[in-house]
Amino acid sequence: MRRSGARLACANCHGPGGRGEPPAIPYLAGQYAHYTASQLRMWQQGSRKTNLGAMGDIVKKLDDGDIDAPAAYFQQVIATPPKSVKAKE
Ligand code: HEC
Repeated sequence: MRRSGARLACANCHGPGGRGEPPAIPYLAGQYAHYTASQLRMWQQGSRKTNLGAMGDIVKKLDDGDIDAPAAYFQQVIATPPKSVKAKE
């Protein structure tokens, strides 16, 4: 319950399925779980200093499971770019 709740909270900002809301909110969908988890831990440890108002506050409430579960979840989501973003290839 708590973990799916954390995922829902991520989607509130990071968009449905973690697809991102450019330009301010990066996508999480398809991102390597290791990358997502390590960014969250860097915020927790104070070594990532961007956007402490948003992510900096959120990570204070997360324990290891709350980091690894959404990180694993977003890795297996297929990224669907929002309509405002055109494929660049
Ligand atoms: C209040 C809005 C908000 C919520 C809720 C939120 N985020 Fe974020 N997140 C942001 C913003 C804004 C950024 C961009 C900050 C930056 O790069 O400094 C960001 C950046 C990130 C990044 C860095 C992405 C990158 O490309 O480096 C990760 C990872 C991340 N969020 C994961 C999560 C996870 C997992 C959750 C749920 C536990 C979550 N976020 C909930 C607003 C939010």
